[in-house]
Amino acid sequence: LLEARSMPIALHDRVAVVTIDNPPVNALGPALISSTLGSLNVAAADPFVGAIVLIGANGTFSGGADMKTFGVIPRPRPSLRDLIVWMESSQKPIVAAIEGNTMGGGLEVALACDYRVAARNARLGFPEIKRGLLPGAGGTQRAPRLIGPQAALEMILSGDPVDGARAAKLGLVDLVAAGDLLETAVTVADTLIDKPRTRASAITIHGDFFETFATARAEAAPQARGGLAQHRAIDCIEDAVALPFAQGDAREMDRFVELLNSEQAKARIYLFFAERAAAKLPDGSVSRPSSVKTAAVIGSGTMGGGIAMACANAGIDVNLVDVDDELLQRARGAISASYGSGVRKGKLTQTEMDERLARIARTTSLEEAASSVDLVIEAVFEEMDVKQDVFRRLDRIAASGTLLASNTSTLDIDAIAAVTARPQDVVGLHFFSPANVMQLLEIVRGTKTSQETLARALSVAKQLKKIPVIAGNCDGFIGNRMLAPYLREAELLLEEGATPHQVDDAIREFGMAMGPFATMDLAGLDVGWRIRKRRYAERPPTGHHPKIADTLCEMGRFGQKTNAGYYRYEPGSRIPIPDLAVEEVIERASREAGTKRRTITPDEIVMRCFAPLVREGEAILAEGIAQRPGDIDVVYVYGYGWPAWRGGPLRWAESIGLRINPDTVPV
Ligand code: NAI
Repeated sequence: LLEARSMPIALHDRVAVVTIDNPPVNALGPALISSTLGSLNVAAADPFVGAIVLIGANGTFSGGADMKTFGVIPRPRPSLRDLIVWMESSQKPIVAAIEGNTMGGGLEVALACDYRVAARNARLGFPEIKRGLLPGAGGTQRAPRLIGPQAALEMILSGDPVDGARAAKLGLVDLVAAGDLLETAVTVADTLIDKPRTRASAITIHGDFFETFATARAEAAPQARGGLAQHRAIDCIEDAVALPFAQGDAREMDRFVELLNSEQAKARIYLFFAERAAAKLPDGSVSRPSSVKTAAVIGSGTMGGGIAMACANAGIDVNLVDVDDELLQRARGAISASYGSGVRKGKLTQTEMDERLARIARTTSLEEAASSVDLVIEAVFEEMDVKQDVFRRLDRIAASGTLLASNTSTLDIDAIAAVTARPQDVVGLHFFSPANVMQLLEIVRGTKTSQETLARALSVAKQLKKIPVIAGNCDGFIGNRMLAPYLREAELLLEEGATPHQVDDAIREFGMAMGPFATMDLAGLDVGWRIRKRRYAERPPTGHHPKIADTLCEMGRFGQKTNAGYYRYEPGSRIPIPDLAVEEVIERASREAGTKRRTITPDEIVMRCFAPLVREGEAILAEGIAQRPGDIDVVYVYGYGWPAWRGGPLRWAESIGLRINPDTVPV
């Protein structure tokens, strides 16, 4: 049987074992489908063969359809559907032996089998929704027949995978293999020989699911605002209840094609490839797996605490450093509270929480923390001399070869590296708040940062399960630099006649997770104020510049932390409430600027805010701060709450003609 797994087809008594093999994840492209069909035909033609087992090579069943073939016209043949049609009409029963990733099209193939045996480690899911699509090879028809409409809705609409045990409980698989997967599958297949086939397509769903579908529709995002695929998937699953299989299956195919041609899916698929491109080194090579085992995080504030958690979550032992025990104690409390809330929400177990907490040691001694670790991440105050002082000491303390990173959000990484005798080992690792949650990691390349260091930084990102984008060294790097003109324009809109909640509403309606003013209140207005004061001193602003934010800060309104910023907040609440005091500040600013206030439409708000952001993005590209337009889009989707279904700001700008770039090839 061991041998069987290295051959496309092998015989074990009367059971033919067909292996799907296309490293690394057995993506189902035309070549693999064709060879699998070939093997299946051989098995079908052999009168001695009574049943077939389908298994994946490389420790995984199949990661799904080959995305590179999506949207290619004419559609490459044989298609996934051709394979499934063959399986459906097979005279001989087919057993799927499932382990590792069994996703999308891979899962659809498994569902077209008569029987499914899963390894405990299997991960079964329909990630299509994350690409703006739905399972288009019968998945929306077979899944509800096997596990019921409610569970099918949950799996297909979330896109999240389930493990082998959960899949068995749901009825998505028939058996979890206690011992060897293939052996179990072959044993099962043997018992099915000469028995009638047990296809999911033959099942009829009974019951009234009106409420189930009404609730699903009510909870899905509106169709025009990113929810198109969700609504089409719900329609399909409803068809599985109401229509014979063949009809439901045909309608699923039509809807899949409709989605494939939709802007929402094109944007999401574009992003999928942009994300992969961003994770590569500038020379196009893929970084090696990281083996960071120990790290020191310097500064235990908002960011340091979150970064320590991100490391601990990835199995890294962390030394968390601050200037006194009280601060460390407070950080420990915050970390513990954050994990605790994860446990309450069922995101991790108490044991996992205890293990992660135990990985975070605390000390006030930089020497103790940083002398023998693989990685140091500095997250002290955003002040050059404080950071330089830390790096000077790190240079003396840290073993040679230690990766030295700064989490600075605006400062010059070269100036930080310059105080060390090893600037080649210094890099920016710009996390986003909360650092244990946000997926984006901007990797800031200093002038002297070596290729090796960059490669290691990319690997660290992978190890921390972050989405990396490499940025050049400039004030604000990619994300924050583009944010500055956006925020400035938002403030100008206030001066011209809008209110903070009008602007925030328009931006949220567009699809952003939060509007600019609610975001600033959350982040703390004092942060930007301190940065602006530094910039005013370095180079005094030219032309008109809005002063509303400065005035609010002078009034001690720092945002949520002071229960007052652009909005006011009830103590303990994060709900922004419009505040007359702010309106007075705004109206005074309008008078002082000599502006007659007017009504500003949501469309104008959107265009006015995003056009400067897009223009700054173009400047960033022209200067080589970002390598590709897709990198910028990845930054905005994963770091700034930009709607994925619009594909990121540059892709959006291109789609409405605000930006015309012949270099980007639409999918
Ligand atoms: P914070 O003020 O919450 O924490 C800074 C911590 O560093 C404090 O606990 C302080 O006692 C400690 N510290 C200061 N000097 C130290 C030294 N010499 N040795 C050890 N510890 C020292 O600040 P926050 O917000 O965590 O920011 C830290 C860094 O992260 C800054 O560079 C900031 O620009 C950057 N950043 C902040 C983001 C945010 O949303 N807050 C987002 C991304 C980056």
